[in-house]
Amino acid sequence: MIRIFDDPTSVAVAAAGLFAEAAAAAMQSKGSFCAALSGGSTPRRLYEELAKQPWRDQIAWEKVFLFWGDERYVAPTDPLSNQKMTHEALLDHVPIPPANLFPIPFAASAGESASLYETTLRTFFGAGPRFDLMLLGLGADGHTASLFPGTAALAETNRWVCPCRPQGTGPDRITLTFPVINRSAAILFLVTGQDKAPVIEAVLDKKNNQAALPVQQVQPVQGQITWFLDKMAAGHLSPA
Ligand code: 6PG
Repeated sequence: MIRIFDDPTSVAVAAAGLFAEAAAAAMQSKGSFCAALSGGSTPRRLYEELAKQPWRDQIAWEKVFLFWGDERYVAPTDPLSNQKMTHEALLDHVPIPPANLFPIPFAASAGESASLYETTLRTFFGAGPRFDLMLLGLGADGHTASLFPGTAALAETNRWVCPCRPQGTGPDRITLTFPVINRSAAILFLVTGQDKAPVIEAVLDKKNNQAALPVQQVQPVQGQITWFLDKMAAGHLSPA
């Protein structure tokens, strides 16, 4: 499903509604809601919405369990940390128990952070990870989470969490892998801004003459993908 909104704020408001609905449905069917969060500017707006009313009081935060889909290999106090951003935008403002938060740890190396996080996931989920909702973004180069073009993490079939080194500058990353992502019950992509229009066209209008993009490996085994775009990101899509 693809929905196009006027601007990033409208995307965030609608995404907060979807998050709350998914949470209520999961809590009703199994007593808890388990989501994987993404980094980036659009999710930040979503987290700020969730920290406001009505969601701050309406969501049963004590039944919400939060994981991160990816992280930069930096200390949790670093401005680049997704965990820090989520705390500032959401977690410091809602009554979620600290024990319900599962951030990616900052260990001695990105590889060690990844294996510790894998253990955390395996302890929580047992044999099969299944997020009720996985939030994802999309980079102009087709990356999602921290699954970048040309990296070994794209071919991972065994590990649930991998370290990864994006091209160019910037810290190493730790990312969930496709075997975990594709077991999610629901995936919500939030994509805004004009710089995303070409990649959105390539992925959703299937006008992709280049090598396959990482995001095209998002193919849930038994789950739904929803795309929330703003007009700018949807600017190259053919009219429905
Ligand atoms: C991150 C995410 C990354 C992000 C995209 C899009 O932590 O940055 O891993 O995949 O979702 O790069 O980011 P924007 O929404 O900020 O453009």
